[in-house]
Amino acid sequence: MGSPDRPLLVETAAPGADDPVLVLVIEAATSPLFHAAPRRNWLANVDVVSTDPPAPRAEPAASLHMACIMDGNGRWAGRRGLPRTEGHTEGEENLARLVRVAVQRNIGWLTVFGFSTENWQRPRPEVRHILGLHEKLVGRVGELNELNVRVQWIGRPFDSPMARTPRYVQRAIRKAIADTADNTGMVLTIAFDYGGRSELVAAVEAARQTDDGVTVETIGEHLYLPELPPVDVLVRTSGELRVSNFLLWQAAGAAIYFTEAPWPDFDERELDAALALAR
Ligand code: IPE
Ligand code: IPE
Ligand code: MG
Repeated sequence: MGSPDRPLLVETAAPGADDPVLVLVIEAATSPLFHAAPRRNWLANVDVVSTDPPAPRAEPAASLHMACIMDGNGRWAGRRGLPRTEGHTEGEENLARLVRVAVQRNIGWLTVFGFSTENWQRPRPEVRHILGLHEKLVGRVGELNELNVRVQWIGRPFDSPMARTPRYVQRAIRKAIADTADNTGMVLTIAFDYGGRSELVAAVEAARQTDDGVTVETIGEHLYLPELPPVDVLVRTSGELRVSNFLLWQAAGAAIYFTEAPWPDFDERELDAALALAR
């Protein structure tokens, strides 16, 4: 991740936190190119009923983009003598709590890694449980509308040969997107069946077909969600210092907040410490 010409700063305490946590900040280049995210085709990777171009939509007033690799649910449960599935259940509830906090903090874009292209290799009962939780999460439309939050999804397009999202989850995702489409506040993007490498392969293949060929701009225009702005701060919980194939393109210039806290314990104070890296 680090490159010799970029400053690397390691702090041992999060700003505003009582307990020491490891905060590793990688200040990468903030090239204007990373900030030239095109705004088109916001529903590119779901079945769109109409073939009309999508109506232009209001950008959220706030622009800060926080992305979270929600890790450590299994360990959270293990420490309590509970099955891993309980950790996932608690993780989903924590996400619902944090969405509320993120809105209060005026975050414009919150993107969460819910399930990776690699996570299908987990035991089937665990996968089934996680799928059910995603259905529950996107079913929280009442809360999301009350908070003026618009739901988005990022992942392998449902009709692509490698995609694995079951139909009932596809339906739940589509419904949440439709039911929150008019909201103008924070955009909550759920990464499900998502992998950064798959996204980049698809984007480069599409970029190759354009008149301009493969450029930073044409790749950016053919990502799964071209409207997603560059990530300002990337969070990874539970002490793992890895990016795990998440938003490889979009997080190119992000500050990174690593914490020992497992995802179910990632609270308001942790969120503020992460935000302090970006504001
Ligand atoms: C993150 O928690 C949730 C998903 C990957 C779906 P984990 O399930 O990876 O929890 P640990 O890393 O085993 O503790
Ligand atoms: C990353 O967590 C993926 C999600 C949080 C959905 P994992 O626990 O799956 O990642 P690795 O395999 O430890 O890197
Ligand atoms: Mg994990």
